[in-house]
Amino acid sequence: MKFLVTGGAGFIGSAFIRRLLLETPAETVKAVVNFDKLTYAGNLENLLPVRNDARYRFVHGDICDAALVNQTVADFRPDVMVHFAAESHVDRSILSPAPVFETNLRGTFTLLEAARMHKTPRFLHVSTDEVYGSIAEPHDATEDYPLRASSPYSASKAGSDLLALSYFVTYHMPVLVTRASNNYGPYQFPEKLIPLMISNALEGKSLPIYGDGMQVRDWLYVDDHCRAILAVILRGREGEIYNVGGSRALPNIDVVKAILNSVGQPHSLLQTVKDRPGHDRRYALSSEKLMRETNWTATMPFAEGLKATIDWYRANPEWIARVRSGEYQKFYDKNYAGRAV
Ligand code: NAD
Ligand code: DAU
Repeated sequence: MKFLVTGGAGFIGSAFIRRLLLETPAETVKAVVNFDKLTYAGNLENLLPVRNDARYRFVHGDICDAALVNQTVADFRPDVMVHFAAESHVDRSILSPAPVFETNLRGTFTLLEAARMHKTPRFLHVSTDEVYGSIAEPHDATEDYPLRASSPYSASKAGSDLLALSYFVTYHMPVLVTRASNNYGPYQFPEKLIPLMISNALEGKSLPIYGDGMQVRDWLYVDDHCRAILAVILRGREGEIYNVGGSRALPNIDVVKAILNSVGQPHSLLQTVKDRPGHDRRYALSSEKLMRETNWTATMPFAEGLKATIDWYRANPEWIARVRSGEYQKFYDKNYAGRAV
């Protein structure tokens, strides 16, 4: 198969491309195009392990740029489009919603139109459990739960999910949607809870806990998520939604304390700060449909995944420093400027 991956320089997209090119049988993966705008969250360093693979190509572009998207799809003729590109951070979406709607809604529309025009055989839209809003105990959200988006980010994802699914209903396009819970693992930008807390703990800085810290998130190791996406591409049914949960629901405060214990720092570094507006209290997903239909299951135990993640951040302080300083934009200029896409 030929894969067109949007947002492949980000946290999950880059893990997916590394999985395709390093761990998937070569007969399954003929070529991979990574289409990415390289916002603050896109980092080509995440793809150094595959940079010289002859099957890999990078296109520097905005998914809202219909001309470039169309040209890329027309030239490459992908068998599948895997759509990760998004403004993905809830806090940023609250502070500055405009780019979130532009990329997450208009960008998804642009890609769907290109896939429609060129009759792309499969389109996987990567979405989130946040579209269900807060889930009251003891329930887990199934795919038919009502959409109750709380933030501009989750509203934009809910809107783009509906748009993608409407292309299946109206145009009979082969669209699939996945909705995953909170991912963690190496190469995650240190604005999200786990990498922020690890990097602060390693540097002896304070760890900001929103509100009472009792909000519950269901943690999914990024490689388990990538395996689920591949399983849905290969075995999912068109027009269907598949939840992808980690089956590891924990209050934030427990996650942060586990990080402090593992790094060997005192709990006195915890600092309660003002709560996030519209903060969802609890996410919880049922992945029963995905497991039943594709045989997928989350395999990484949380303690082991957290240790692997902490070890990775401990071993890569330069990556954190460069990401924080925007240094990787210089890396891009040095390595890619002037290269044909
Ligand atoms: P990320 O912020 O790490 O990466 C986003 C990538 O998209 C970056 O490489 C960025 O440069 C690129 N991008 C942004 N705007 C673009 C545009 N207009 N055109 C082209 N590229 C653009 O995000 P992530 O955490 O890897 O999330 C990837 C996807 O998975 C998103 O759609 C997100 O909603 C979804 N998701 C994330 C999580 C999570 O916990 N991180 C959980 C469930 C679903
Ligand atoms: O649930 C899936 C979603 O998970 C994805 O769709 C999003 O792209 C991804 O960013 C993530 O959203 P969250 O808002 O859940 O992730 P974040 O890491 O920002 O926050 C996780 C929890 O930790 C949340 O309850 C807010 C809290 N938090 C976060 C930060 C950054 C803090 O208490 N302190 C912090 O400094």
